[in-house]
Amino acid sequence: MNITIIGSGNVGGALAVGFRKAGHSVILGVKDPALPFKGKDLALEYNFPFYAIPEAVQKSDVVVIAAPAHFAHEIAQTLGDVKGKVIIDTMNAVMKKPAHYTNASEAILDNCNSTDVVKCFNTTGAENMANPHYDTTPLDMFVAGDSVKGKQVAMQLAKDIGFGNCYDFGGNDKFSLLEQFALAWINLAMMQKMGRNIGFKLLKR
Ligand SMILES: NC(=O)c1ccc[n+]([C@@H]2O[C@H](COP(=O)([O-])OP(=O)(O)OC[C@H]3O[C@@H](n4cnc5c(N)ncnc54)[C@H](OP(=O)(O)O)[C@@H]3O)[C@@H](O)[C@H]2O)c1
Repeated sequence: MNITIIGSGNVGGALAVGFRKAGHSVILGVKDPALPFKGKDLALEYNFPFYAIPEAVQKSDVVVIAAPAHFAHEIAQTLGDVKGKVIIDTMNAVMKKPAHYTNASEAILDNCNSTDVVKCFNTTGAENMANPHYDTTPLDMFVAGDSVKGKQVAMQLAKDIGFGNCYDFGGNDKFSLLEQFALAWINLAMMQKMGRNIGFKLLKR
């Protein structure tokens, strides 16, 4: 797949490297390519091309957004024509929410012309996205959204970077629940002081 990643910090950087290792083509979308940005060293190390956001978005079929969630609506307005493109929102509006929205994915859907917006890669720490394996057991990932195409793409990418499974959490009405699920991970890792090397695995019988 051709993937543009907007926000190349902890999450965007881990996903960029994972997608590249899985054989996908990755470019970075940045606020201003002439200025420093958080993932610039990574971009130079891995030779990820980087462009201003609208230009980067036009070069890809899949757009991953991994920036602060309260900018979600503003970032969505800068994407340009994204009709038919899959947008994967990794963001959690747990501290500051985008103005007038309860979660980041709704803010994106409302402010761009893609209907294929899904939330994924938000329910675990960036370290787990870089390496989802605990000994021989891979963590699981979760995805929500109405877009069948978007969910298929996110599920494939999650498996490509090593997650055991990527479970369907439901439609757009589950965006907020998936952010709350992320808050459960944050609570255990930070507030309950279990540390960031923990993650979720779904068991069935
Ligand atoms: N950290 C985690 O373990 C984790 C796990 C799951 C989900 N998340 C979610 O993932 C998102 C990113 O978290 P992170 O820890 O990766 O953050 P981070 O390391 O601080 O990186 C944020 C990135 O967003 C970019 N950015 C900031 N404002 C922007 C804007 N207005 N337009 C475009 N790009 C912008 C930054 O670029 P500049 O350097 O140019 O400012 C930077 O590359 C958050 O919403 C967070 O809730 C984080």
